[in-house]
Amino acid sequence: MAKVFVTDHPLIQHKLTLLRKKNTSSMDFRQLVKEISTLMGYEVTRDFETKEIEIETPMEKTMGVVISGKKVGIVPVLRAGLGMVDGLLSLIPGARVGHIGLYRDPETLLPVEYYCKMPKDIAERQMILLDPMLATGGSLSAAAQFLKDRGATTIKALCILAAPEGIEVFHKEHPDIDLYVASIDRCLNDHAYILPGLGDAGDRLFGTK
Ligand code: PRP
Ligand code: URA
Repeated sequence: MAKVFVTDHPLIQHKLTLLRKKNTSSMDFRQLVKEISTLMGYEVTRDFETKEIEIETPMEKTMGVVISGKKVGIVPVLRAGLGMVDGLLSLIPGARVGHIGLYRDPETLLPVEYYCKMPKDIAERQMILLDPMLATGGSLSAAAQFLKDRGATTIKALCILAAPEGIEVFHKEHPDIDLYVASIDRCLNDHAYILPGLGDAGDRLFGTK
């Protein structure tokens, strides 16, 4: 059964508070999303397989540890997931990046797909889905299903804020995918926005409202 990890490191909580504030500029919002994603990246990669190898320092031979498991694929859900990509790439620069374009229809609240481009070998990669907001869970669940339909076998999901309702939906649809969040917020409002939340993540990242 998949787990929910709440990454409540003090640095993440501090940056999240700045991110939520309504007067935070788009420039600062982008920087904070990147920094929070980098810090959350430590948790997401914590169980990566490692192996020992022999190396030589300028002083003597010794054993070192290197990552030995699957290669990584990062998949932001457009648009807002884009803000998290650089944070993860700063930790895993060799990761391949796929993209899924989804938007939530404002009437039906259901996700509508408009773009999908994945690395060829996603079946062999540890895939990490990125979306800062898990509200009703529709978008992240659909994105995870797209990955599975295209052959992905190992998936983790990384969100900054999640509503309890969305977590429940996502777990029901994808009981095999571990979810990493910086905060589980109180609930959704009548328009399925997260409370207390941070507003519309895409608009705040890209200054479109
Ligand atoms: C936001 C967010 C998620 C989705 C979450 O995207 O980035 O993808 O809403 O809502 P859900 O859990 O109820 O599906 P949005 O649809 O606003 O698109 P955008 O990133 O292009 O603005
Ligand atoms: N999408 C957002 O960007 N914010 C929310 O609160 C819910 C969905």
